[in-house]
Amino acid sequence: MSVHKDVKRITTRTLQEMKRHGEKIAMLTAYDYSMATIVDAAGIDVILVGDSASNVMAGHETTLPITLDQMIYHASSVVRAINRALVVVDLPFGSYQGNSKEALNSAIRIMKESGAHAVKIEGGLEIAESVSRILTAGIPVMGHLGLTPQSIYKFGTYTVRAKEEAEAQKLVEDAIKLQELGCFAIVLEKIPAELAKKVSEQLSIPTIGIGAGRHCDGQVLVIHDMLGLNKGFRPRFLRQYASLYDIMNDAIQHYVSDVKAKDFPSEKEQY
Ligand code: KIV
Repeated sequence: MSVHKDVKRITTRTLQEMKRHGEKIAMLTAYDYSMATIVDAAGIDVILVGDSASNVMAGHETTLPITLDQMIYHASSVVRAINRALVVVDLPFGSYQGNSKEALNSAIRIMKESGAHAVKIEGGLEIAESVSRILTAGIPVMGHLGLTPQSIYKFGTYTVRAKEEAEAQKLVEDAIKLQELGCFAIVLEKIPAELAKKVSEQLSIPTIGIGAGRHCDGQVLVIHDMLGLNKGFRPRFLRQYASLYDIMNDAIQHYVSDVKAKDFPSEKEQY
């Protein structure tokens, strides 16, 4: 990976400083070289190679099918593209739940084979031993609480989590535990804004929200969703910044009609 001399790279420490100074953290997903090049050049702080690749890149209904090898392939493509952003990679379903040794081996493979800077792992107290073991190996860990899509079959629905007091209380305890273990940040997915505010105020490490309101220390979106590549996916938390599906569809239709009309290539476009 080439590092441009004049670019100050984002580190886990930078993110902690941003929280201290009240500067919000901007995070987006990316899964391939071309997209990551654009995202990094646009000034994003953190690129998440999310297991949402299982949905948006591979077309699966859930995040469960994506493998560790596939995550490493996506992550190494992203790492080759970036000059500035911190690259965090999801530990996929089945790569850490067995035991803490399996979790450590998976995290080491991600770091060694992709060149990424940190891993993200879903869960609280129940994965404390794995988080601790990964951290002991010197690998930065981002937590992920609230709606954890790898447990979708346990939840049965993608609706807002932790609306009830007991679940909200457990989430607060989990967040504190992850901070105590040494996680550098925590993603809070689809929880009430007031709860996210409470957690963000209680923690010294940054929270990064998706569907968790404005009080988180940063925000993350899936890039295909915010660029409008996923036509029809319009949850309340999503702000769509472009309509790339329509733009691309128009361009491709135009190309098809030019080819059919023998208008492309022209004299100028041939040798
Ligand atoms: O996989 C992913 O894209 C994620 C984000 C939704 C936070 O985990």
